[in-house]
Amino acid sequence: MQPARLLLFLLLLLPGTAADPEGSCKLHLFQIVIFHNTSFADFSAWATLEDMVFASWQKHNDSILYCYPWVYPALPEEEWKNLINVFKNYLHGFVPSLSSNVNLTQTPYPFVIQGAAGCDLYPNGSYTRFGHLAFNAHEFLSFNVDNRHWERKQNSQLAAEVEKEFNSFTIFSQTLQFLLNVTCVDHMKKFIQYAKVDLERQELPVATVFARTPSPAQLLLVCHVTGFYPRPISVAWLRDGQEVPPGLALSTSAILPNADLTYQLRSVLAVAPRDGHSYACRVRHRSLGTRSLLVPWEIQRRGSALTIGITVMVLLLVAAACAGGFWWWKHRKSDEAQ
Ligand SMILES: *[C@@H]1O[C@H](CO)[C@@H](O)[C@H](O)[C@H]1NC(C)=O
Ligand SMILES: *[C@@H]1O[C@H](CO)[C@@H](O)[C@H](O)[C@H]1NC(C)=O
Repeated sequence: MQPARLLLFLLLLLPGTAADPEGSCKLHLFQIVIFHNTSFADFSAWATLEDMVFASWQKHNDSILYCYPWVYPALPEEEWKNLINVFKNYLHGFVPSLSSNVNLTQTPYPFVIQGAAGCDLYPNGSYTRFGHLAFNAHEFLSFNVDNRHWERKQNSQLAAEVEKEFNSFTIFSQTLQFLLNVTCVDHMKKFIQYAKVDLERQELPVATVFARTPSPAQLLLVCHVTGFYPRPISVAWLRDGQEVPPGLALSTSAILPNADLTYQLRSVLAVAPRDGHSYACRVRHRSLGTRSLLVPWEIQRRGSALTIGITVMVLLLVAAACAGGFWWWKHRKSDEAQ
């Protein structure tokens, strides 16, 4: 942490309880195809383990870019070759198939198809799997893994045509079913073993408390928490040491990603100015162990009072020095005059 931040924000570590429960693990695949016109579609695809993009598709040479050192060694070389073949066939079948249905139904260009597929593994060993397609950000088709069937999610003619056509590709549906029902979980278990260092990475949250005054009658206390990993976190406001219950005065943002694979969020508490209570923001996170991070609002104010105090002191010293200098200068002049 930067020293300036340390100076500005007094952080107290107090005993507490770790707040984040162990969740599921996710292996997801994403694709975006932008159909610009009848002859040009731009394609990108990537895979995530939890929230780490660990592999992406390189379309210039139909290969996989392995984003962490653990990715390639996690599976046998043959398996990577198989996967690359499956994706190549998928891409080279998917795009022309959609293009021809688009022409058939006179759907206007440009448009975007987004795909998401994958599996979630729970601590009790059970898992779920899914495959969805969206058209211009609206639900389009879903793949039912159990009965190996594509189901349309909107009433358009295009959805009906694509549903019919995809369901006629029986080998593709069988492959997809096996990929989602078996391969996905098998591979996820291997990746989890190999990715331990990155999955268990812990970054400490940095919390800052400041106030906004939207009107003279209202004070908004803002607790901004950033830089933490993994994602689960608990942020609460304490009034005179007691947790403020959920209500209209309290609003907490969604957890948002930072560019460096850490997260941030803010919690805002509306209070009346000078209501005589003390306030503090309390953060609990895996990286803190059993302790809590406590950032008091009262002490922030005393902090600024201290700054004013120091400024006054410095001014007084400067004034004294000036006065002293002037006295010395006058004295010397009168000495010289003698
Ligand atoms: C396992 O856990 C998940 C998520 O908590 C739950 O939805 C599912 O029903 C559980 N399955 C079994 C067999 O306990
Ligand atoms: C999915 O895999 C499980 C375990 O291998 C198997 O028991 C189940 O029949 C499979 N389901 C489908 C729809 O293939």
